Amino acid sequence: MREGRTVVERTLVLIKPDGVRRSIIGEVISRIERKGLRIAAMDMRTLSTEVAEAHYEEHANRPFFASLVEFITGGPLVAMVVEGERAIEAFRSLAGATDPVSAVPGTIRGDFALEVQENIVHGSDSTYSADREIKLFFPELA
Ligand code: PPS
Repeated sequence: MREGRTVVERTLVLIKPDGVRRSIIGEVISRIERKGLRIAAMDMRTLSTEVAEAHYEEHANRPFFASLVEFITGGPLVAMVVEGERAIEAFRSLAGATDPVSAVPGTIRGDFALEVQENIVHGSDSTYSADREIKLFFPELA
């Protein structure tokens, strides 16, 4: 969607079960809002195995797939649609590198995580992924 010269995007953000357990939901939401991004939809839910496998389908052949699905279904998470100018890249910058040890301090993973699986948040990595993931989590918005 284009508004004047800006490019407004939507991205799917998850505060994963480790972020919920550690009581940093507010911290993550605050960083999203302080950046100027908007939360268009949000809820707390526990994923079924089917939805988790669909969400991570591109990683189905990777050795950590079963462990990742077990982790993401292991407790409630917060799912949201975040929107704003170049929201996909903007949120991934806020999140920091996938491996939290490499993530720069000041990013969510750089400040709060040490493990590549328990890395607090997920954000869509492309417009294609964002569309697919938003349809999976919030079909009413797609
Ligand atoms: S990237 O940048 O999103 O493509 O990163 P990628 O390395 O492909 O990781 C994709 C998701 O898989 C998780 N991951 C792992 N989980 C468990 N063990 C290992 N070794 C591992 N490596 C990557 C990682 O947390 C990513 O989850 P999401 O939810 O997409 O951030």
